[in-house]
Amino acid sequence: MSGPGLDRRTLLAAAAALPFARSSVARAEPIRLRAAPARVALVGEGWPSTEVWAYGGTVPGPILRGRQGERLVVEVENGLPEPTTVHWHGLRVPVDQDGVPGTSQLPIPPGGRFRYELPLRDAGTFWYHPHFRSAEQVGRGLYGLLVVDEPEPPPFDRDLPLVLDDWRLRTDAVNDVRTNRHDAAHAGALGNTVTVNGRVVERLEVRPGERLRLRLLNAANARIFALRFKGADPWLLALDGHPLPPRTLDEVLLLAPGQRADLVLDVPPVRLARIDLLDEGDPQGTYRVTSFAVTRNEPVPHREPAGPPPALPANPLPEPDLASAERHELVLDGGAMATMMRGRLPPTDLPPPDPRALRTLFDRGLFWTIDGRAMAEEGHAHEPPLLRLARGRSHRLAIVNRTAFAHPIHLHGHSFRVLARDGREEPDRPWRDTVLVAPGERVEVAFVADNPGLWMLHCHVLEHQGSGMMALVEVG
Ligand code: C2O
Ligand code: CU
Repeated sequence: MSGPGLDRRTLLAAAAALPFARSSVARAEPIRLRAAPARVALVGEGWPSTEVWAYGGTVPGPILRGRQGERLVVEVENGLPEPTTVHWHGLRVPVDQDGVPGTSQLPIPPGGRFRYELPLRDAGTFWYHPHFRSAEQVGRGLYGLLVVDEPEPPPFDRDLPLVLDDWRLRTDAVNDVRTNRHDAAHAGALGNTVTVNGRVVERLEVRPGERLRLRLLNAANARIFALRFKGADPWLLALDGHPLPPRTLDEVLLLAPGQRADLVLDVPPVRLARIDLLDEGDPQGTYRVTSFAVTRNEPVPHREPAGPPPALPANPLPEPDLASAERHELVLDGGAMATMMRGRLPPTDLPPPDPRALRTLFDRGLFWTIDGRAMAEEGHAHEPPLLRLARGRSHRLAIVNRTAFAHPIHLHGHSFRVLARDGREEPDRPWRDTVLVAPGERVEVAFVADNPGLWMLHCHVLEHQGSGMMALVEVG
């Protein structure tokens, strides 16, 4: 890949054991979560360690875990040299617990603390990360999984979180987190080293015949993974935490920054079996993210031939009424090569932006707009919201991408159903909190605006978020 970075394939050859920072937490007492600089071995043996910013000293941070219906209390301490906040991505929490500086809270100063109280309304796979100077803070390693267990945990042999990230490492394994304008105006900062659970992982050891629940999270700033399992047909169980009718994954699984997927992987009941996890989304070509390898000769758990896994119980999300839903449209624009898209755009009411206005934005480091407006990541609290949604009503939102790049659009405080892409119905109409919108595409989502407050809507390519592709949505 570009720059003086390490070659990822070389890195992938450096075998590393899977380091798990896992803390199963009792629900009632507060969990202490300290964000601070740390050093970790990202690449593994033979390579220098890397200075990161981390929760609890590890990348990813500890897995925070609770049961649906309970409340998680997290006491965050800021041991960083700059302010921070923590956002609980995908959790439907009250706005004052949502971790957005300016609208939810003041940033936590260095040395400061903040106590978050999180009602766990939905079961599933969620995550947490800062919402202050996100590209740099998340890019330095501040993120972790948040798992909400179903009241009756489904019968899988093992829960196997797979937190994917990529890093831009120099040959001395130093992590280069500076955002340059070129990346910000293109696809964001792609790295050259892909990690699984904070390490370059050659292979994950699995037992013959195991039925695994994989919890995948894309914690990368910008990389959109197109995952393929070679040697197995996993079942898709949930997207962004929310259950789907289980079906086999027969195509690539697109996993954009911020998105999660729960899969069920049945390990073949034979020794030396191997399943490769490939990423077909890299502009430089397909590479292997990691492998699942049956290396130990442990007794095969006795089970019937593996049929479809049981569906997970649905989360208590309010079903939007499409007949009465109010309609809205948001147009994503800007970035490099935007004019390329002009000719083949879906129709919208919005006129193309005035080039002179764009110039002024560029000079401020703002390259992207939503409905013609670019919002800076900090200091947005006084801007009027882009959308005002009547509380308790159903809303149908069309997101139109007039740029030459894909954007994973994330809405805070709510989950929405993805209805259609370019007029074609989306299979299963999944509930999501982050939807990938391809160049030129028009994606329609619907939800009930039931969580009052001022909420962020932004691209989860963090360099895009940091250069304008953000907006406020008011529910009231
Ligand atoms: Cu995961 Cu507003 O972000
Ligand atoms: Cu984007």
